[in-house]
Amino acid sequence: MNASASDRLAACISLSDLSALAQENIEHTAWDYYRSGAWDETTLARNESAWRELLIHARGMVDVSQRTSATTLLGRAISCPLLSAPTAMQKMAHRDGELATARACCAARVPMCLSSLSTTSLEEVRAATTEPLWMQIYISKDRGFTRALVQRAESAGIEAFAVTADTPVWGVRERDMRNGFRVPDGMHIVNLERAGEPTGHAGVGIGGALSWTIDASLTWKDVELLAASTTRPILVKGLCRPDDVAAAFDSGAQGVWISNHGGRQLDGAPATADVLAKCALAARGRGCTIVDGGVRRGIDVLRALALGADAVAVGRPILWGLGAGGEQGATRALEILRSEFDLAMALAGVRSVEEIRALGADLVRAR
Ligand SMILES: Cc1cc2nc3c(=O)[nH]c(=O)nc-3n(C[C@H](O)[C@H](O)[C@H](O)COP(=O)(O)O)c2cc1C
Repeated sequence: MNASASDRLAACISLSDLSALAQENIEHTAWDYYRSGAWDETTLARNESAWRELLIHARGMVDVSQRTSATTLLGRAISCPLLSAPTAMQKMAHRDGELATARACCAARVPMCLSSLSTTSLEEVRAATTEPLWMQIYISKDRGFTRALVQRAESAGIEAFAVTADTPVWGVRERDMRNGFRVPDGMHIVNLERAGEPTGHAGVGIGGALSWTIDASLTWKDVELLAASTTRPILVKGLCRPDDVAAAFDSGAQGVWISNHGGRQLDGAPATADVLAKCALAARGRGCTIVDGGVRRGIDVLRALALGADAVAVGRPILWGLGAGGEQGATRALEILRSEFDLAMALAGVRSVEEIRALGADLVRAR
């Protein structure tokens, strides 16, 4: 990175600054692919605004001179309750793509969840971080392929699988349709290549040749089968209802991931902030709860923990970091969130993740 690029990155003090810088650097159809939500993008917008409706009732005169954001997730110690959500095709944001994200997560000591639709092989990404590396899985129509992918990932040292539940079919992102969005030349969805079927120009975002990778007939039975086929923990990603949270644990999951796919699937779905408290209650005592969607500030992380999440994932903010400056940009995105979260804890009169979770609605509620 040259001096002026690194100065511009250093001048980014918020995620929204990173987003503006990334937009300058990312080709416009890729930018639209990253930013877009489904149909009218109402869920996309509400994901962000719903966090802001939650008010933080700070405690006064608490000694917050010693505080920590450290916590554990699936038995591993992490520096703060953050992780990188799986997002497809990170090489469109920066040539180092998923490797840059893995290195940034490693430096920040937080987990990364690799997308099935990554442009870097899972083995290369595994080699780039010593911190927890999870992989997102679409249970494909070709169940044998999915079983083999999970085994391959397990042998490579992937520590947990997030099974995506909110893609029975691809959501409709009209920007991609208007742009005729395609996987850029020279890029491949490397982990999903079947013999003799290259995935370049596959038409991700509008279905295309990758339509076999998802399956509209999936049920909880498929989650059960997947959970039984691996020794690694399974999380079910893309849930927004307490009864589905219960069903996920009944099916053998060790965690749930409250998400609406960043507003990219069902437009009109509630924001994750709207449903998190009830879902986390249904998960209590059964396993961990991750949430994502519209988290843009450290205060949103605090809000999510008070509503019952164990950790918070971010999707687009990492892409913005990558676009703004590769590994250093992704590191900056995580650092902005971590330091904002630390300050939010101090200002709210709390000293640890456990304390925020114990205070719950006493600390964060709608009024
Ligand atoms: C460009 C993009 C690609 C994504 N690709 C995947 C994917 O391959 N698998 C998946 O389960 N979720 C995917 N997601 C959803 C994210 O994992 C996450 O749920 C969402 O981005 C969180 O919202 P946020 O971007 O507001 O943080 C994607 C999201 C974006 C923005």
